[in-house]
Amino acid sequence: MCGIVGYIGHREAYPIILNGLKRLEYRGYDSAGIALFDGEDIKLSKTKGKVNDLEKKIESEISTNGTLGIGHTRWATHGVPNDVNSHPHYSNSGNLVIIHNGIIENYESLKKELLKRGYSFASDTDTEILINLIQDIKEKENVKLGKAVQIALNQVVGAYAVAVFDKEKPNEIVVAKLGSPLAIGIGDGEFFIASDATPFLEYTKNAIYLEDEEMAIIRKHKDVKIRKIKDDSLVNPYVQELQMNLEQIEKGGYDHFMLKEIFEQPSAIKDTYRGRLLSKEAIIKMAGVEDNMKKFINAERIIFIACGTSWHAGLVAEYIFEDLVRIPVEVEYASEFRYRNPVIKENDVVIAISQSGETADTLAAIKLAKSKGAFVFGVCNVVGSSIARESNAGAYTHAGPEIGVASTKAFTTQITLLTLIALRLARAKGTISSSDYRLHLLELEMIPEKVNDALKSEAHIKKIADIYKDVHNFLYLGRGYNFPVALEGALKLKEISYIHAEGYPAAEMKHGPIALIDDNMPIVVIATKKGHYDKIVSNIQEIKSRKGKIIAIVTEGDTSVKELADHVIEVPETLESLTPLLTTIPLQLLSYHIAVMLDKNVDQPRNLAKSVTVE
Ligand code: G6P
Repeated sequence: MCGIVGYIGHREAYPIILNGLKRLEYRGYDSAGIALFDGEDIKLSKTKGKVNDLEKKIESEISTNGTLGIGHTRWATHGVPNDVNSHPHYSNSGNLVIIHNGIIENYESLKKELLKRGYSFASDTDTEILINLIQDIKEKENVKLGKAVQIALNQVVGAYAVAVFDKEKPNEIVVAKLGSPLAIGIGDGEFFIASDATPFLEYTKNAIYLEDEEMAIIRKHKDVKIRKIKDDSLVNPYVQELQMNLEQIEKGGYDHFMLKEIFEQPSAIKDTYRGRLLSKEAIIKMAGVEDNMKKFINAERIIFIACGTSWHAGLVAEYIFEDLVRIPVEVEYASEFRYRNPVIKENDVVIAISQSGETADTLAAIKLAKSKGAFVFGVCNVVGSSIARESNAGAYTHAGPEIGVASTKAFTTQITLLTLIALRLARAKGTISSSDYRLHLLELEMIPEKVNDALKSEAHIKKIADIYKDVHNFLYLGRGYNFPVALEGALKLKEISYIHAEGYPAAEMKHGPIALIDDNMPIVVIATKKGHYDKIVSNIQEIKSRKGKIIAIVTEGDTSVKELADHVIEVPETLESLTPLLTTIPLQLLSYHIAVMLDKNVDQPRNLAKSVTVE
């Protein structure tokens, strides 16, 4: 979490950094700050609140001249969000200034040492300790900034993406990375630094993504020198050409990124299967799967590891894989998996699912699985992300940038990709008949159009949102393939409207949640035709007899549920295994509209961040 931005070159740094912070705000938004070098001194301004608050403050507080600067948008770890704890942080001398994304775990022992040496600390942050450690080393050892950063980082335990500059040497910025992402944009005699490439897209398409344990000294009008932090060896920079464009990261006429991303799902799903699903030839082509077919075929077990919404996609995949591929599946929260001494065998295939590809727990779980000999396949959206690089093989969802903190298109594209993999493996293993396989391909190909139809219920959903926006509790029920969708629907509502919501397998309702039902309680029931339809109709009757308010997601043309439910929202018919791709849509729209009506910050819900790079 936290977003970092920097610039060194011939342009005014301030607008580039400010705009960059706005683009990175999805990474954290409880405070923000900027430090600029105006040719003589450092000008620093920071504040609790959002980048807009910073913008207002800066303009009355400091001059914004200068062609070198760094900026930060924070998701607090050490120290509450307030002005003092916001980044950038000065060293005691006032010469050095730093921004940091990550956590310094051994900060206490480092702080003790520095206190003994006469240093003092204004904030509660681990970052201020790091910048003073750098100053101390620089002075004690009489070394340049780059060397001091390197020595300091070799003493640090934790995760970081940092950028530091020294007002005595204002022609360079030193950056380093371990665990948190850091991209360097290469312009003509100018350089950009950012947690992802979005802040510099309009200036350059050439970027270097630092690897873990690498640092770079970026010199104005000159070059970027990359070294290994541990052994000081020089690294040959690999400059990538970015495929993203500006349009993808703008709201495009929508009020919120979340709404834009909900409506992008038809095209995002198409982008996920484009070139992979060849329905005429009845072929699924995915290099990462083909190249490792033996591993997949011989897998005794598939373990999905993920967090948040991606974990829900893993749950949907559990149904698909067990159903079609007949391989035992486990779905694990990465944060639990990594700490509980799991049994992992060499014939296990681990599929790590992550939109950002940066989630710290998922990354650590991958490393653990690899160390025990498992084959790790990464399903990520962000190209070149840490999880994508750490996995043995993988496939991208190609959903395009997802900026709204509440994940939407990432979920449906992950399910699409995992369905493709399952179908390919089922074909290879002979666990699916050729007619069933073809039918799946044809149906999957029609999903974007059907998602489009599902989106047409927006106006109707808005009316339902208006009726229930003021309740305090919601229950979401589903069975089979749609049980994970119930969990995801509840998560969406919690995340952005702060209404308490629980997702449950419909039959389990009798073992607890039924006690909550009264005539104030809205219960969203996913009751599509295929699967456990009769059973779920019985569950609806149980709710009805307790006077709960039923919002049912049904298959187009359904009549039985219509008679029982207070509201129905229709989705087109499809195969049971593909229903999650459609039933998710109304749940996303329902939570979106409730949150908007409650005047919540939909794209940046409180306390959350898009990319969780701390444990
Ligand atoms: C955060 C985000 C969620 C996301 C989860 C996992 O909590 O707010 O939307 O599902 O992280 O992120 P990942 O990038 O690994 O899918």
